[in-house]
Amino acid sequence: MPVITNIEDLRVLARKRVPRMFYDYADSGSWTESTYRANEADFEKILLRQRVAVDIEGRSTRSTMLGQEVAMPVAIAPTGLTGMQHADGEILAARAARKAGIPFTLSTMSICSLEDVSEATGRHPFWFQLYVMRDRGFIESLIDRAKAAGCSALVLTLDLQIIGQRHKDLKNGLSAPPRLTVPNVLNMMTKPRWCLGMMGTKRRQFGNIVGHVKGIENMGSLSEWTARQFDPRLSWKDVEWIKSRWGGKLILKGVQDVEDAHLAADSGADAVIVSNHGGRQLDGAPSSISALRAIVDAVGDRIEVHMDGGIRSGQHVLKAVALGAKGTYIGRAMLYGLGAMGEEGVDKALAIIRNELDLSMAFCGRTDIRQVDRSILLPGSY
Ligand code: GLV
Repeated sequence: MPVITNIEDLRVLARKRVPRMFYDYADSGSWTESTYRANEADFEKILLRQRVAVDIEGRSTRSTMLGQEVAMPVAIAPTGLTGMQHADGEILAARAARKAGIPFTLSTMSICSLEDVSEATGRHPFWFQLYVMRDRGFIESLIDRAKAAGCSALVLTLDLQIIGQRHKDLKNGLSAPPRLTVPNVLNMMTKPRWCLGMMGTKRRQFGNIVGHVKGIENMGSLSEWTARQFDPRLSWKDVEWIKSRWGGKLILKGVQDVEDAHLAADSGADAVIVSNHGGRQLDGAPSSISALRAIVDAVGDRIEVHMDGGIRSGQHVLKAVALGAKGTYIGRAMLYGLGAMGEEGVDKALAIIRNELDLSMAFCGRTDIRQVDRSILLPGSY
C-alpha cells in the first residue's frame, strides 16, 4: 500500500481502482479541457507572503458558511454518480463530512437517494443540490423530499441546463449502471474491490430519479437524459419560485460573471458559488479562482460568496479565502479519496486539506482563518 501524503496520491490510486468510465467521468472537462486545467493551474500563480517570528500557537481553521459552524471553510461539492466511484459513495462521503465537521452536498444526480443518505447518517443535516427539469411537479417533489430528509440548505445549479460535451463520456458510453459490453466487463474485471462493493449494494441507479419519475426505469446515457429532461428555459423567475417553495437557505451555484452576481444578490439568495462546474460546461471560460475577486468586490457585502473549481490542496482553500471566499467546495479531491479507499479515503482527503490549510496559514503568520484576507497574498500575483 503506497503512503498517501497528498490528493494526487489518492487520484493515482483511484485511477487504478475505479472502472475507467467512472474515473474518466470525474477526471475530465468539456471539449479541450482548457478551463478544467486552468482551474487548478491558476491557483499556482497566486503567491503567499511568508511571515516569521509571529506567535503561531493555538491555531483555528473554524469558520462559518451560511451561519453554520464549519471545522474549515470547505464543503463537499455535489458530484454526479458518486456512488459509482465506490459502492454507496454518497453515504460514505456524507459520513466522512460529518466526522470532519463540514457540510456534505448531495447531487440530484446521485446514486444514493436523499432518503438513503438521511437514514444512513442518522438524519444529520446535509445540503441538497437541485437541477431544474421540465417536469415542475418532479422539482416540487424533490424539494419536498429534501425538506423531509432534513436538508439544511438548497444548492440550485444554474449552469447546467444543457450539458457541455465531454469527449470521454461519449467514447466510454457512460451510463449507470454500466452496460455489460465486452470492453466494460473486461475493464471491470481489473477492479475487483469495486466489483465486490457493487455486488454488496442495491444502489446502482440514479436514486433520486429512478422509481420517482414515471416511466423512468433505466436512464441509460446521462447526456441523452439531460438533453430530454433538463429545462433550458430556466430563468431568474424560476429562482424566485424555487426560493419561495423551498423557504430555507438558498445557494446559487455556477455564477462566473459580475452581472450575474448582481442578479444573484438581487434574488435574495443567501450565497453564490463562483463556479464553472469544474471546467465541465463552458470550456474557454476563466478559471474560478481568477473570476472570484471581481465577484467578491462587486457583491461580497450583499451576499456570501463561495467558490469551487480546482481545489486540490489546503493552500488552494487558503488562497480562495484570502481573495474573499467565505467557503469553498471540493468535488474531485473527495472523489479521488472515495475511489481510492472508500470512506477512509474521504477521511484522508479531508485531513490532508485541513492540515495543508492549517500549516500554510501559519507560515503566513496567521492563527485564525477568519483573519485571513488579501494581505497574506503577494501584491501583483492575484
Ligand atoms: C454533472 O453535474 C456533471 O457535471 O456531470
